[in-house]
Order: sequence, then structure tokens, then C-alpha cells
Amino acid sequence: MKTFQAQVIARRYTLAAALLFGTQGIVALLGAADLIIPDLPSPIPYEYGRSIHLGLAVLWPLIGTMGMVYYFVSEDLDREIFSLRLARWQFWLVLTSSLSIYASLSFRLGRGREYLEGLPWSYAGIALALALFSYNLIRTLVKHKQRITPAAMIMSAGTILLLLFLIPNILTITNPIADEATKFWVVHAWEEMAFELTTAGFLASYLKNTGLAGKKDIEKWLYLEAALTVAAGLFGTGHHYYWIGFPAYWLIVGFTFSFFQLIPVALLVLMVHKGLKKRPKLGNRQKLTLALILSSLFYHVTGASLLGFIITVPWINLYMHGTYITSGHAHLALFGSLGFLVLGGAYYILSRGTQPDHKTYRRGILAVLALNGGLLMMSTALLIAGFLQAYRARYLGMDFMEVNLKLNLYLIARAAGGLLFTSGDLLLVWQILKAWRNSRPAASDS
Ligand code: HEM
Ligand code: HEM
Repeated sequence: MKTFQAQVIARRYTLAAALLFGTQGIVALLGAADLIIPDLPSPIPYEYGRSIHLGLAVLWPLIGTMGMVYYFVSEDLDREIFSLRLARWQFWLVLTSSLSIYASLSFRLGRGREYLEGLPWSYAGIALALALFSYNLIRTLVKHKQRITPAAMIMSAGTILLLLFLIPNILTITNPIADEATKFWVVHAWEEMAFELTTAGFLASYLKNTGLAGKKDIEKWLYLEAALTVAAGLFGTGHHYYWIGFPAYWLIVGFTFSFFQLIPVALLVLMVHKGLKKRPKLGNRQKLTLALILSSLFYHVTGASLLGFIITVPWINLYMHGTYITSGHAHLALFGSLGFLVLGGAYYILSRGTQPDHKTYRRGILAVLALNGGLLMMSTALLIAGFLQAYRARYLGMDFMEVNLKLNLYLIARAAGGLLFTSGDLLLVWQILKAWRNSRPAASDS
């Protein structure tokens, strides 16, 4: 099988993403412990640790996605990307900008914008990396226009949207309502629109190029799925505008379009179902990749879409807004659906040319099980804690602090889930590192 240089470069992106994910498990576990053991001695105060955790939550999937787009676009077009040099520059730019965010937060330099706490110039660096990325992809598509596929198109569209939604967040916006809204263009529009497009593109390309599914079966729905994702995602962001000073009609707009967000996810499930109908005999590498991809699909449907839709209903959101239920949904959706997929891609890309033996494969599956078990335990504890917060504080009118002090049991259960999660996290990252070391293209990396 032909290896493109872009696919070799994709290895460094996915390796960096896996390593950052490894770090996140440890940072997050310390944060969860800090919530149940007050005044836990720590060099970084809780609020900065939380910001680093949220920064990591958004940025390692971004870096991994960049690698996956390069890998699958060149595979899908069966051609090299336009500029390998730009792809290398882009890597160092996005990596140093991301690291500068973590470093500045460690020195307690932040700007108090949840998820985007780093200093604006770091985000300018990320935006520049995304601009190089978009340019490189557009030039690639123009150069090979006869070979353009729906998957390559929608991955590139997703990339351009990532750039467009980030740009307003580099600027200083003084109006607090506009500032809050643009923040959600990254938290929501990135996750539920741009990454949805790249996700659909990866899955289509993966299923097609591994021979799991026929080209026609896979590509039939892709453009429809992409159009629905963009239309529903754009106005579905309205579910974040409910209580930040937007006119009341956004309650209806946000709710209605959030409902339509469920349709492209259903189409995605249909596509993967078609892809796996043939039940081909798979090797250990494919089976481990699929375990990660199917985990992602499970949370995409449940934790992201269905739970997301339930909490979007304005009468429900009124009570549960900003409680631990949001945190439960955030973990199930961001890690469950996007994180698992990026890890699946990272493993697939970095293990190319190798086939894990039975023992290594079993360790990989154990890691996936620990990640799933830990995630489910954490999120269940968070959902119960959030329900109690909403019921006692918002329905019964009890004092908020009094209610929070009674949640310790659930926060301990969350930390226990976090411990299981982190063991799975470290075990998987170890398997990915081993695959990276053993795989052939490493020698020809430039
Ligand atoms: C992969 C897809 C998704 C991801 C990664 C995701 C991620 C997130 C994250 C990180 C938050 C927390 C934001 C914050 O802290 O303020 C959030 C909140 C929210 N999400 Fe999602 N989400 C996804 C899909 C959905 C869908 C499909 C819906 C609705 C149909 C939805 C509805 C909501 C709502 C209503 C909130 C705000 C909760 C509150 O008011 O506190 N999400 N989501
Ligand atoms: C060991 C595993 C993890 C633990 C123990 C953990 C713990 C925490 C803690 C303590 C918070 C602060 C707010 C709260 O108490 O909920 C938080 C928030 C958050 N975490 Fe994690 N986390 C873990 C893994 C992850 C992963 C892998 C991701 C995504 C890639 C993630 C995404 C988020 C997000 C988006 C929020 C903000 C939620 C909100 O707005 O309410 N976490 N996490």
C-alpha cells in the first residue's frame, strides 16, 4: 500500500495528541481530588488547573484532527497534499501555541474566558495554523480537482469552519453578550459543526479505504449529512444563547435547530452500520481501531446527541443549566464522541504497517474497557449530582452552597471513575507509543 509523505507527517500530529491526552488524565485526576480534599497542596490553584484541563480538552482533539485530515485526505484523493513544508510548519505552530497556553496558565496568566483562557496571541497562533491548514487543503483540492471525493470535501469544509469560528475569539470584544456568544462558536460550533464534518469525513474515508464498505454505500449521503450538520449546527448554537441576554425567540430557534442536529448523527450511524454489515474478518489492528471508533459512535448518539437534546429543552435547561449535568454531558460528548474517535485515528495512523500480537491487543482492549468504564462511572456520578443540585437548589430553593456541600459522595465516585479512566488513558497511550515505535514509516520520517 502506497504511503504518502502527508501520512508520515500526520504521525507527528497524532502522536502529540496522544501524549497530550495522557497528560490530561493526570491533570484532571488532580482536579477531581482537589474538589473532595479542599486545600490539597498543589503548585497550581484549582481554577488554573481547571483552565488547563479545558484547554487540553479542546486542543488535543484539534491537533489529532489535523493529522487525521492530512492522512485521510491524501488517502482519499490518492495523491500527495499541496505543500508538505506548510504541513510541517503548521504542526510546530499549533503545538507551540498550545503549549504556550498551558505554560501561561501554569504561571497564573489567564483572561477568564472559559475554554479560551490563554492569552489572545496564543489563539492567534492557532488561527494562523488553521489558516495554513485551510490554504493547504484548498490548494490540494484545486490541484487534484478531478479526484475530489465527498469525504475530502467535507473534511476541508470542517477545517475552514474551525478557522472562521476561532477568528472572532482572537479579538477583544467589549460587549459581554457578544463575547459570551463568540466563545460558544468554539465550544459549540467547533464541536457540533466543524468536528462533525471532519468526523463524517474520517469515518467515510476509513470505511471506504479499508475495504469495509463500498464507495457507493458510503458516499451517497455525505453531502446531505454535511448540509444538515451546517444548517442545524449554526442555529442550534442558540441553545447556548438562552440565558446570556439574547432575545427570547432564541429559546425556540435553539431548541428547534438542536432537534435537527439529531438527523445527521442518525445518518452517520446508518453509514457505519452499512460499512460493518459485511462482517469481514479483521486483524487485531483493525479490531482495536474499531473498538475505539464504535465507543465514539455510542457516545455520539447517547451522551452527545440524546442527552444534549434533553438538556436543550428550555424548561429542563432552566433548572439544570450550569450544574454537574452540563459537566456529565461535556465529558460524554467531548471525550466520548470526539476523544475516542481521535484516539482511534491516532492508533490507526501510528500502527500502520504493524499487527499487534494477541497480548498487546488484549492490553489495548483492556485500556478501551477501562476508559469506557471510567467515563461511564464519572458521568453517572456527575448526572446524579447535577440532578440533586437542580432539584434541591433550583426547585426546592435550598441554599446553593449547602446543596453543594452534600454532593461529596458523588464527587468521590467521580474521582474513582477518574482513576479508572486515567489507568485506561495511560495504558492506551503506552500501546499507541509502542505501535508508533514499531511501525515502519518512522524510519522514513522527514
Ligand atoms: C459531539 C457533540 C457535542 C459536544 C462535543 C458537546 C460539548 C458540550 C460542552 C463541552 C458543553 C459545556 C459548555 C459549557 O461549559 O458551558 C456543552 C453544553 C451543552 N450542550 Fe453539548 N455537545 C455536543 C452535542 C450537543 C447536542 C447535539 C446538543 C443538543 C441537541 C447539545 C446541547 C447542549 C446544551 C443545551 C448545553 C448547555 C448546558 C447548560 O445550559 O449548562 N450538545 N456541550
Ligand atoms: C480522569 C478523567 C477526568 C476527570 C477526573 C475530569 C475531571 C474534571 C473536573 C474536576 C472538572 C471541573 C468541573 C467539574 O467538576 O465537573 C472537569 C471539567 C471538564 N472536563 Fe474533565 N475530567 C476528566 C477527563 C476529561 C476529558 C478526557 C475531557 C475531554 C477530552 C474532559 C473535558 C472536560 C470539560 C469539557 C469540562 C467542563 C465541563 C463544564 O463545563 O461543566 N475531561 N473535568
